Amino acid sequence: MKNHRILVVDDDKTNLQIVRDVLENSYDLQMAISGETALRFVAKRRPDLILMDLMMPGMDGKETMRRIRTEAANRDIPFIFLTASQNPEEEAACLSMGASDFITKPIVPSVLERRISRILELEDFHRDLQAKVEEKTRQYQELALESIFAIVNIIEAKDEITEGHSVRVAGYSIALARAMGYDEQRVDEVYQTGLLHDVGKIGIPDLILKKEGKLTSEEYGEIKEHTSIGGHILAAIETMGYLADGAKYHHEKFDGTGYPNGLKGKEIPEIGRIIAVADVFDALVSKRHYKEAMDVETAKQEILRGSGTQFDPEIVQVFLRLLDDGTIGRIRDQSIRRRMDAEASE
Ligand SMILES: [Fe+2]
Repeated sequence: MKNHRILVVDDDKTNLQIVRDVLENSYDLQMAISGETALRFVAKRRPDLILMDLMMPGMDGKETMRRIRTEAANRDIPFIFLTASQNPEEEAACLSMGASDFITKPIVPSVLERRISRILELEDFHRDLQAKVEEKTRQYQELALESIFAIVNIIEAKDEITEGHSVRVAGYSIALARAMGYDEQRVDEVYQTGLLHDVGKIGIPDLILKKEGKLTSEEYGEIKEHTSIGGHILAAIETMGYLADGAKYHHEKFDGTGYPNGLKGKEIPEIGRIIAVADVFDALVSKRHYKEAMDVETAKQEILRGSGTQFDPEIVQVFLRLLDDGTIGRIRDQSIRRRMDAEASE
């Protein structure tokens, strides 16, 4: 079976015939008599390798290669140049342009065959390796996310009333991040950070977390500790160094009156300012041990009231836009639906 497709480009038909005689039993061949024809062939179907005459009238070999490679999908097609000249400088120039090899005419069949098969073997090996790396990366990311969700389950098992809070806060946070122009990799990081923002609650006694009614100032002081505890817990995950800031800084306030460090304005890491808005909104519209759920319109006014004092006013603006265009509502509905599905399947 012919596993590879080779495009041969040469303006001399005799040369094309010689190459055909050598290669046609082993490869799927396509012959082009000019650079222009080669460009058309490549546009229709990507070859696995291009064997190309260097000197051709009109578009020469180097120019043809340059044009073929402007297309991202074709950037890694290996090129072998064929030339009658024995010029080492020309050879060096072709190799430095990214050609894989350089063969001088007259063609020696066994040399041509071996060089082509060696390059194609390397290409296959490279593609294989790349596929394996991609698969491993995907597995690693999946494992990371599953581990994060396991931790989220620990956080939420401590207090059933906050069930779903982490997922919703993460959802609102990524909507904010996207609207603020984050790229998708950073959006993923924001999601993971949002999921874990309350991880420090693991270190707070249940009696305080679940207390109905007002906390004493001592108890409130203990609750505040969840930020530092969370930052400390997550600092141990060094390969995801971005995680800790969300847990640590989501209770800082824009005017500097928050905790744990009393940071002010843009001193507060942006992820802290993002999660702060997402977290408070979700807490307002949810039932808690010490209060009933607030309706969305009243919560919106609350967020607006905190703009510039509790929250970064720019982030509040983005959040209000996402509330008005229905994005926040959709995320909330989805998370409720997901939870109902999960309960139904238990
Ligand atoms: Fe918190």
